[in-house]
Amino acid sequence: MTIKRKVVVLIFAAILVAAGSSTLIGRTISKKAVEEEIGNLLTTIAQSKSLQIHAAISDKVNSVESLSQVLATVISDEAYQDQIQGRLDSPFVTYVLQRFKESNESIRDIVVWNMEGLLMASTRPAESLNMGQGLEEALSMGKEKAYVGTIEAEAAGGGYVLYTSAPIRMNGEPIGVVALLNTVDDIFAITTDRTGLGKTGESYVVNPQGYLITPSRFLSDAAVLSNQLSIGDLKLEALIPGGNHEQIQSSRKAIRAKNYLGDSVFRAYAVLPETGWIVVAEKGSAEAFEPVVEMTNTMLFVLLGLLGAGAIGAFLLSRTITKPIINLHRGVVEIMKGNLNHRIGGGGTDEIGQLSMAFDQMTANLQRTQRELEAYSAGLEKMVEKRTRELSLTNEELNREIEVRKKTEETLRRTNSQLRETMEQLKSSQAQLLQSEKLAAVGQPVSGVAHELNNPLMAISGYVELMEMYVEDPTAREDLQNLKTLSERATSVVRNLLSFARKQDPKREYISVNDAIKVVIKLRAYELNLDNIEIVQELDPELPKTMADFQQLQQVFLNLLVNAEQAMRDAHGRGKLIIRSEKVGDIIRVSFTDDGPGIPRDIVNRIFEPFFTTKPVGKGTGLGLSICYGIVREHQGKIYVNTKEGEGATFIVELPIVTKSVECLSTG
Ligand SMILES: Nc1ncnc2c1ncn2[C@@H]1O[C@H](COP(=O)(O)OP(=O)(O)OP(=O)(O)O)[C@@H](O)[C@H]1O
Ligand SMILES: [Mg+2]
Repeated sequence: MTIKRKVVVLIFAAILVAAGSSTLIGRTISKKAVEEEIGNLLTTIAQSKSLQIHAAISDKVNSVESLSQVLATVISDEAYQDQIQGRLDSPFVTYVLQRFKESNESIRDIVVWNMEGLLMASTRPAESLNMGQGLEEALSMGKEKAYVGTIEAEAAGGGYVLYTSAPIRMNGEPIGVVALLNTVDDIFAITTDRTGLGKTGESYVVNPQGYLITPSRFLSDAAVLSNQLSIGDLKLEALIPGGNHEQIQSSRKAIRAKNYLGDSVFRAYAVLPETGWIVVAEKGSAEAFEPVVEMTNTMLFVLLGLLGAGAIGAFLLSRTITKPIINLHRGVVEIMKGNLNHRIGGGGTDEIGQLSMAFDQMTANLQRTQRELEAYSAGLEKMVEKRTRELSLTNEELNREIEVRKKTEETLRRTNSQLRETMEQLKSSQAQLLQSEKLAAVGQPVSGVAHELNNPLMAISGYVELMEMYVEDPTAREDLQNLKTLSERATSVVRNLLSFARKQDPKREYISVNDAIKVVIKLRAYELNLDNIEIVQELDPELPKTMADFQQLQQVFLNLLVNAEQAMRDAHGRGKLIIRSEKVGDIIRVSFTDDGPGIPRDIVNRIFEPFFTTKPVGKGTGLGLSICYGIVREHQGKIYVNTKEGEGATFIVELPIVTKSVECLSTG
C-alpha cells in the first residue's frame, strides 16, 4: 500500500471512529433526554387534566347539592304550608327545577324522586324520561349522600350526560332524591384540548371497566362507551383503584406501550379518586424521537461532510507529506539505476526536506568521487599498460638470459662430470702406479736376497738329508726333523718372495678359469669343512677360455679363498663364500664374496702393499695380496676390493679374454 493510500485510509478511519462514536453517544444521550422530557410532559398533562376534570365534577356535585338545599327550603316554607309543605310533587317544585335548569347551561335535565323512588318532578315529560342504569344508580346512591355517576349516552336528546344526585332532607331526614343530567362538553373540552401533545399525542379518559368515556383523536365519537380497552393493555392494573382513593394518583414517569391502534407510544396517567376514572396522556414514540432522529441525521450529514473534508485533507496531506517522500523514493531509485545526475530538489525545513537536501548533497559527492575515480582509473590503465610493456621486455631479456645460463650450466655439468671421470681415472692410475712402484721398489732387493738365501737353504736341506742316514740317536733324529721342517718353511718363504719378485715368468696356455677355481676349492675342501665355511659356486658354464698361467691363477684364487676363510673363521667361527665367474664384455670377471668382518676404511688402501698384514707375527707375511696383484697385472688384468666394515668383502679379479691366435701373433 502506498503512503498516500495509507494516509487517506488513516484519516478516514479516524474520522469514522470519532464521528461515529460521537454520533452513537449523542444519540444515546439525547434519547435518554427525550424519554425524560416526554415523561415529564405527559405526567404533567395527565395531572393537570385530571385536576381540571376533578374541578368540573366538583362543580356538578356542588350544583346538585345546592339544588337539593333549595328544594328542601322551598317545601318547608311555612307560607305555603297547606299546598306544598313536604310535597315534592307540587307544581312549585317543578317551577323551581325549571328555573334552576335555565340558570345553568350545563344542566340538561333535572329529576326528583321520593324515597320510594316515585317520580315527583322533572324538567322533562315523564314519558320521555328513560330510566336507564345511570339514572337508577343516581336514584339509589343519591339517597344517602351526594353521588357522581358515570357518563352515559343520553337516548332522548343524543349526546352524553353525567349523572349527579343528592338527597333532599327535611329536618335532617331524607325525603327524596334530586338528580342532574349534566352536559359533559366541559370535560370533553378538557380532554380534546391537545396543547403540547403534537401531531400524534392525545388525552382521554377510561372508566374503571375500561370503557373510553371521552372522544379520542383517532376513533369516531361512536367509540365512546362502546370501545372497551383492555386494562391490561393500558398497563395500569397496579393503580386501578377500587374507587376509594383519597386524592389523584398519577404515574411518576411515562412508560412505553402500544395504544389501541397498535402504535408505539409514551404514556402517562392519573386516576381520579371519586370516580376511579383514569386520565391518560399519550404521545407517539416516533414523534417523540423525531428530534433524536433529526439529530442523528444531522450528525450523519456532518459525518459525511467530515469524510469529504477528510478526502480533501488527505489529498492536501499527501501533497505536503507523501509527495516529498515519493520524490525521495524516485530519487533513490534513479540513483540505484546509476543516474547520478538526478536531484530530488524541493527541500524545506521539515525532516523530509532536510533528508532530500542531504540526499542531493550525497549524490553530488558520489558523482564527484566517481569522476575522480574514473580519471584515476584511466591514468592507472595507462600506467599499467606502460608497465606491462616494460615488464614483457624485461621478461624476454630474462628468458634469454635464463636460456644462456641453462646452456652454460649444462656445459659446466658435462665438463664437471668429465673432469670427475678423468679425476677418478687419474686417481686409480695413480694408485696403480704407486702400487707398481712400491712393488718394483721392494722387488729388486727382495729378489737378490731370495737368490742369496736359496742356495744355502738348498745346501742345508741336502746336509740334513745326508745326516739322517748316519745319525741313530733318536733325540738327534728329532732335532734333524725339526731342522728339516724349518728349512722347508724358509724355502717356502723364499719361493714366495721369488714369485712376488716375478722371478718366475708366466707360462701362457689356453686354459679354463673355472677349472683353476674348482682345483683350489677341492684343495681346501678339508679345511673349509673344518671351519664351517660353506662355498656357493656360481660359475658360468659358458665362460670362454683364455691364454693364462694356470698355476699362477690357482695361486691368486687360493690366496683370496684363504684370506676369506681366515677372516670369517676369526670373526664368527663360520661363514659363507660365494664364488662367481662371468663374462662381462670382453673380460672374465671372478668375484669372492664373503660374509666376514669386512675391511676398515683406514686400511683398505694398504692391503695390496707387500708385507702389510693385520695378522700376528709368524701367522701372515702380508705378501698374499701383493703376489695376487703382481700376477693379475702380469696378465693385463685388474684386482680390487669392494668392502664395508662389518658387512663382508668382495674381491674382484678381471682378466682380458685372450684367444690363442692373438697370443700367437703377439709372441710371434
Ligand atoms: N677376505 C678378507 N677379509 C678381511 N681382511 C682381509 C681379507 N683378505 C685380506 N685381508 C686383509 O689384508 C691383509 C693382507 O693380506 P695378505 O694376504 O696380503 O697378507 P696376510 O694374509 O696377512 O698374510 P699371508 O697371506 O702372507 O699369510 C690381511 O692381513 C688382512 O688384514
Ligand atoms: Mg693372505
